[in-house]
Amino acid sequence: MKLTFGFRATVCEIIEGKGSMAHVGNLVGKARNVLVITDSGVPPQYAESVLAQFYNASLLIIPQGEESKNFNTLELIIDTLRKREIDRYGALIAVGGGMTCDITGFAASCYNRGIDYYNVPTTLLAQVDASIGGKTALNFGGIKNLVGAFHHPKGVVIDTDTLKTLDKREFYNGLAEVIKMAATSDPALFSLLESDLPLNEILDDIVGAALQIKCDVVLEDPLEHGLRKVLNFGHTIGHAIEIASNGRLLHGESIAAGMTYFCSDEMRKRLERLLKRYYLPVKSPFSGEVLLPYIALDKKRTEGLITTVFVESPGIFDFRKMTPEEVVALI
Ligand SMILES: NC(=O)c1ccc[n+]([C@@H]2O[C@H](COP(=O)([O-])OP(=O)(O)OC[C@H]3O[C@@H](n4cnc5c(N)ncnc54)[C@H](O)[C@@H]3O)[C@@H](O)[C@H]2O)c1
Repeated sequence: MKLTFGFRATVCEIIEGKGSMAHVGNLVGKARNVLVITDSGVPPQYAESVLAQFYNASLLIIPQGEESKNFNTLELIIDTLRKREIDRYGALIAVGGGMTCDITGFAASCYNRGIDYYNVPTTLLAQVDASIGGKTALNFGGIKNLVGAFHHPKGVVIDTDTLKTLDKREFYNGLAEVIKMAATSDPALFSLLESDLPLNEILDDIVGAALQIKCDVVLEDPLEHGLRKVLNFGHTIGHAIEIASNGRLLHGESIAAGMTYFCSDEMRKRLERLLKRYYLPVKSPFSGEVLLPYIALDKKRTEGLITTVFVESPGIFDFRKMTPEEVVALI
């Protein structure tokens, strides 16, 4: 599959499919001076296969885990770019999950006032969500994504073969994002996920469909002023659960639980059945009182009201403005 979409002057080319990692060199330009960034938990063969496609490429391995999304890692990347004499015509290539894509993209947004970067996402979450849309960031002062910029990758190469080495829990974590997108925007994808077809047989179809949703939404609302907020379905409570769990629950797992509070009764039944099938939580392990302070902190709040997404049935949703107390009453 090949998708191309434009954002202002940026064109981001997306190549998706098994074995597509072999096309990174041609997409970026084999003679360019590039820095490939991966993390210590990503099987090394992926970065090595990308590296081998260039005449002039170096590798930087950053420590795995969300803790690496910080200023120290940014400094390390910038310093490596400087030492390798990569100028504004060079490029960064992230090979890894959302953490690696986010920090690589942010480094690319500020080095030399912005250079090209490419994402080669290797987790399901990064393939359907984090690698596309131009949101780049690092965490600061205990707050996720506090420092960041919109900077679109020039290209994204999504090789679903890389998911074979992914831990099951991480895979289902990414699947929660796919279920989220299907619930708000694609009834056919939702039905496909509900079907009894084995996941490995429909993997490319579901990744392709989720990608299409993300691209359509980003294209229509690149800076998250309106429609893009639909991607926050489940986040109001889910994000609070994620903070309260202090690292015990993954992002997708927290969002899974968070979605079930913003559905019609019929939709909730279908959603819960689907989430349980993939070992994802269907309710908050925390009380409303515990979550209230985190919900009240929601950075998407305006004039005291949080915009939430309510799903009536797959593909049918509306935005509802609620106070933090009204949200807590749902739990
Ligand atoms: N920019 C965006 O729009 C956006 C959207 C959603 C999430 N995010 C960010 O994404 C991050 C979470 O991403 P994630 O869930 O991919 O986590 P992650 O990048 O930390 O990866 C999870 C783990 O999987 C390992 N891994 C990666 N690929 C692998 C593979 N193919 N085989 C085996 N192990 C592999 C990594 O080493 C890591 O330990 C968060 O920082 C979040 O803020 C960004």
